[in-house]
Amino acid sequence: MDGNGRWAENQGLERLAGHKEGAKSVQDIVRAAREIGLEAITLYAFSSQNWARPGAEVLGLMNLLRDYLFEERPEIMENGIQLRAIGDIEKLPDFVREPLDSLRNDSASNDKMVLTLALSYGGRESIAQTARALAEKVASGEMKAREINVESFGQAMPTAHLPPLDLLIRTSGEQRISNFLLWEAGYTELCFSDLLWPDFRREALYASLEEYKGRKRRFGLTGSQVESGDLAP
Ligand code: FPP
Repeated sequence: MDGNGRWAENQGLERLAGHKEGAKSVQDIVRAAREIGLEAITLYAFSSQNWARPGAEVLGLMNLLRDYLFEERPEIMENGIQLRAIGDIEKLPDFVREPLDSLRNDSASNDKMVLTLALSYGGRESIAQTARALAEKVASGEMKAREINVESFGQAMPTAHLPPLDLLIRTSGEQRISNFLLWEAGYTELCFSDLLWPDFRREALYASLEEYKGRKRRFGLTGSQVESGDLAP
């Protein structure tokens, strides 16, 4: 969800005003995703690296997250959305972690859509943590080293609850992944929008989904193998 700062600067406003407007995009995109019937959506709301931003900006973002969790709770519950989180959640201040934990618990059996917030999250960090957890299992004898493969590694990742990642959208004209879902994005379609995140509303989501529909996914196979449908994974 990139471009909040630039959006604010373009309007002559403080960066936090961009994040506030970005929170409105979050609201609109999540609502649209549910209405369309998407199975899951994951939002990169705060990276492991974002802690190094100025203290006032970090605090402002934490306040916005807390507000979001309180304000959106009724809509999340009424619409059967299951809220999940990935990242180093324990690093979040109590005033964010408590409403987050409460909504995660209360929405755990909701089954219309999974909304995952990536908070204090880094793709490399999550791969390293998973590798460490598996290494510990091998060291304790709970698992054999030869049992580590793409399947078991994926099952040990914090995103094991999610379906395969079909589409990753990056806003603000930048063409990089910036440490988001690195493992999960192995065969993901990438879509880059020039819009700054506060301007990215449901029409832009629909446009990205149209672009995705036009893609031919081959997963390492030949086009004719995929067309025959026999060998597609
Ligand atoms: C990146 O834009 C955006 C963030 C670091 C924060 C994203 C947070 C929100 C959209 C609002 C709160 C989230 C939720 C889930 C309610 P940037 O600040 O790096 O933009 P820039 O590259 O233009 O400076």
